[in-house]
Amino acid sequence: MIHIGIIGSGVMAHTHAEAFSGIRGCVIRACCDTDAARAAELARRFAVPNVYSDFRHLLADPLIDAISIVTPDPLHAPMSIAGIKAGKHVLCEKPLATSVADAQKMVVAAKREGVITMVNFTYRNAPAIQKAAHIIQSGQLGEVRHVQANYLQSWLTGNQWGDWRTSPQWLWRLSTGHGSMGVLGDIGVHILDFASFPVGPVKTVNCLLKTLPKAPRNRIGRYRLDANDTAIISVEFANGAVGSITATRWATGKANSLTLSIHCDKGALEVDLDRSENSLMLCTGRDIHRTLWKEKSCPRTPTIYQRFIKSIRTGKNEPPDFARVAEIQRVLDACLRSDATDSTVRV
Ligand SMILES: NC(=O)c1ccc[n+]([C@@H]2O[C@H](COP(=O)([O-])OP(=O)(O)OC[C@H]3O[C@@H](n4cnc5c(N)ncnc54)[C@H](O)[C@@H]3O)[C@@H](O)[C@H]2O)c1
Repeated sequence: MIHIGIIGSGVMAHTHAEAFSGIRGCVIRACCDTDAARAAELARRFAVPNVYSDFRHLLADPLIDAISIVTPDPLHAPMSIAGIKAGKHVLCEKPLATSVADAQKMVVAAKREGVITMVNFTYRNAPAIQKAAHIIQSGQLGEVRHVQANYLQSWLTGNQWGDWRTSPQWLWRLSTGHGSMGVLGDIGVHILDFASFPVGPVKTVNCLLKTLPKAPRNRIGRYRLDANDTAIISVEFANGAVGSITATRWATGKANSLTLSIHCDKGALEVDLDRSENSLMLCTGRDIHRTLWKEKSCPRTPTIYQRFIKSIRTGKNEPPDFARVAEIQRVLDACLRSDATDSTVRV
């Protein structure tokens, strides 16, 4: 039996609890939140026996094998490092950290203690992206030439996820003072992984970040709304391919859309998670001359939560571990520098 402690009991923690509850041989032993009502609600819903307000008390429980960190972004690094030092395996939410320096410290700590680490790149759960990575890396479509990847949300204009003006869950994401790296750190990190997982490492970026007006004096209560809400990134990959990657919260009419097109010299593929998580579109062979696309279904693949538990059982760290995600953190930092200096930056 693997015993899990969940740190942070907000919205996403319920997804973690549900996922771990569904894995045989895995039990949630404790949860924690500085907001007692949230921790109590998570504990009630998933019958969690131990509830804490201080995460250090949770870490002190020797029966807890692994922790899930589901707190706001600036807490990921200190909580992960404390967990690793306590000998716990760590599944951490994205972004891994708020700087490359912190991400590196997390990688070093994990190596030193020899624990399993993973980051919750949720969209790797889609069989379509796993298949896309397999197809591209097998070389069957030839050399990658052009890549387009978009992650589009609209919670600043639509109320499908509630009213952001009255919800701390959205307000902290809009405020650098609350540790947010804006849309770049929130969902830009997902789409950078989504593109570079199949295509390979990013070499250079030229990034435009925008923070558009959204409230009088751009402030709501104690939240200064200064975090970027659109990121447009021109990318060159190490393999020579080029592309564009976009993340925005202003895509009115799109709730949570991820798309990826990879065009190679012998074929192309497209992943569109709104269309299907379980299939992708392929244009290959003679079809490239007729620009004809065919749907290809993709076999089921394990979720990040299942991979994390399997890694603990086997002792073999499956991706994406902290080391891989620290590379993405490097791309995020390069994007910030590129925007600040209005120049192309080497990652
Ligand atoms: N992988 C994904 O697809 C995905 C989706 C949503 C959110 N997330 C990530 O999950 C994390 C949490 O997001 P959320 O939407 O659940 O936010 P949230 O605001 O709903 O939840 C965060 C919780 O952490 C608690 N918290 C704050 N400080 C704490 C502390 N010191 N100790 C214990 N608890 C503390 C807060 O009280 C809150 O309940 C973020 O890093 C976010 O980027 C990832």
